[in-house]
Order: sequence, then structure tokens, then C-alpha cells
Amino acid sequence: MRKTERYAFKAREEDLETIIALHDRNFGQPDEGLIVRRLHENDESLLSVVAQLDHKIVGHCQFFDIETGAQSTGFAKFAGLGPISVLEDHRNIGMGYYMISYGLRTLKRQGYQKVFVLGDPAYYSKDGFSVDETAGMSAPWGGPYFLAKRLNPGGPELAELIYPSAFFED
Ligand SMILES: CC(C)(COP(=O)(O)OP(=O)(O)OC[C@H]1O[C@@H](n2cnc3c(N)ncnc32)[C@H](O)[C@@H]1OP(=O)(O)O)[C@@H](O)C(=O)NCCC(=O)NCCS
Repeated sequence: MRKTERYAFKAREEDLETIIALHDRNFGQPDEGLIVRRLHENDESLLSVVAQLDHKIVGHCQFFDIETGAQSTGFAKFAGLGPISVLEDHRNIGMGYYMISYGLRTLKRQGYQKVFVLGDPAYYSKDGFSVDETAGMSAPWGGPYFLAKRLNPGGPELAELIYPSAFFED
């Protein structure tokens, strides 16, 4: 039997509509796809990762820059993760993990200090995200679903996180 080919890699510009349709379907609502569209339209997309299975895109994971406010206590190179989704028929075979790992490896090489995510701790803790890493960070959200992972040393101990405008447009 032929080996199934699974990959995660940087999305191409021409994949955008496929990616948005994929999020619409996976979430059953347009909100996440719209955020991806706006991040791209506003030039706020840092890294867009797709999962491919036998030449078909089955998942997408978005990364974006997070700025910090003037009161922050040092130079920050912070990123955010999301949205992420995988087609229902192709879940639980590691596609989400491939995309997150690809993204985190890339951002670590680029010197990013932390990556933040708003999501299920049961899922993201497997990739090393923890609520502890959000201590001292003020963001538009918080609580047990607001997580971060450290990629490189450094960065402010106290910071106001400023998310891209794509998250707040009507
Ligand atoms: C979350 C999602 C992206 C995971 O993708 P995936 O390719 O199935 O993930 P992986 O195969 O890498 O990992 C699967 C593992 O994560 C677990 N998992 C998946 N979703 C989870 C969740 N919400 N909470 C806890 N664990 C979860 C699975 O049980 C499985 O566990 P195992 O490795 O112990 O068997 C996918 O389920 C999805 O698209 N969900 C709908 C959209 C969504 O909720 N996106 C996330 C918003 S935070």
C-alpha cells in the first residue's frame, strides 16, 4: 500500500480562499475565516501554515504578531496563534500538531520570545503552552484558556498585549 503523505508547510497566496472555506466549514460559522481574511488583507499575517494530506489541504493554522503597549518593561517579540482547524475526516492523526510544531519551529528561529493562544488547555498543553507564561501580561482576554509558550529567553515581564485590528473589526 502507498504511504500516505502528510505535510505542514507555509501556505501560498493562492490558497487563501481554500483556507477560509475550510475554517467556515470546520467551525460552522464565518467568524474565524473572516479573521484570517482580515489578517491577510490588513497585512497582519505573520505566518500561515497549511496541513496537506495526499496533495489536499486539510488544515490551516494562523500566526500573527502581537505588539506591546508603551508601559511594557522591555523589548518584546511576541506572536499569537489562531485560528487553527482541521477537516473533520482528518482529525486525530496529528495534523494539528504538525502545523503547530512547524509554526513554533519557524518562529523560534526568527527570535520570537513567546507565542500566545486562546484555546483549550487540554489540547495546547501537549505542545507546551501554559497559563503560567501569561503572568504579567494584560490582554483583551484572560482566564484558564489564555495560554502561552516560551520559545526564546527575554521579553518584558509586564506587558499590555495589542492584538491585530483584524480581531476587532465589525
Ligand atoms: C483542535 C483541532 C485543530 C485538532 O486538530 P487535529 O489534527 O485533530 O489534532 P492532532 O491530531 O494533532 O491532535 C489530536 C489530539 O488532540 C486531542 N484534542 C483535539 N481537540 C481537543 C480539544 N478541544 N481539547 C482537548 N483535546 C483535544 C485529541 O483527542 C487527540 O488526543 P490524542 O493525541 O491523545 O489522541 C481539530 O480538532 C479541529 O479542527 N477542531 C475544530 C476547530 C477548533 O476547535 N479549533 C481550535 C480552536 S482553539
